[in-house]
Amino acid sequence: MQTDLTTLTVTEAAEARRSIRSYKDRPVPAEDLREILRITSLAPSAFNVQPWRFVVVQDADTRERLKEAAFGQKQVGAAPAVIVLYSDIRDALDTLEEVVHPNYPAEERPAVANGFRTSFSAKPAVEQAAWGTGQSYIALGYLLLAAQSLGYATSPMLGFDPAKVKEILGLPEHVTVPALVALGEADEEGFPHHRHPVERIATFR
Ligand SMILES: Cc1cc2nc3c(=O)[nH]c(=O)nc-3n(C[C@H](O)[C@H](O)[C@H](O)COP(=O)(O)O)c2cc1C
Repeated sequence: MQTDLTTLTVTEAAEARRSIRSYKDRPVPAEDLREILRITSLAPSAFNVQPWRFVVVQDADTRERLKEAAFGQKQVGAAPAVIVLYSDIRDALDTLEEVVHPNYPAEERPAVANGFRTSFSAKPAVEQAAWGTGQSYIALGYLLLAAQSLGYATSPMLGFDPAKVKEILGLPEHVTVPALVALGEADEEGFPHHRHPVERIATFR
């Protein structure tokens, strides 16, 4: 953690976070990256499936290649770390037993996993992949706030060619890539929030 900074509360992190596209040329300590991903891993998902997976790219050459795959977006080359968030629903389904809560008696756990596996496997592959992508965006939200709370800026991105990103990182064809996230110490302020007021996006009944 950036030791000179106090950890922010969720509210403080949400208020402070902005997309940052210029970064200081300072690596992010491995323990900070691990802690950001640990907090991210606490995100909830339907049936606790946790289909999200991450590749943390710090190597400069790989970041340059990712930058090309992201249509030259400068933050991909400038940030000391780029976290590639992908969803591997096939791996998640194959290993469902891992995510069945240990509070279930041991003898019931295979049946719990199989129940979900059987019903979910009936969906078309495209729908399964989209489901995993949707769940992974919950993790993206956690990641952005976790990074901010530990003093790091982020830039989430959808502007990239997923096939190229998969090729660069050697990821399997069937995975989806919901986002790239540039992460590091900010070297600009970013834009102040410009958001709908609550009255525009919510009704209370
Ligand atoms: C899923 C997602 C994809 C995004 N893709 C890009 C992108 O490819 N390039 C970029 O510069 N900003 C991208 N953004 C940043 C948004 O434009 C930004 O979050 C929004 O304008 C609000 O600004 P703020 O993040 O500074 O509050 C993306 C944001 C999200 C959440």
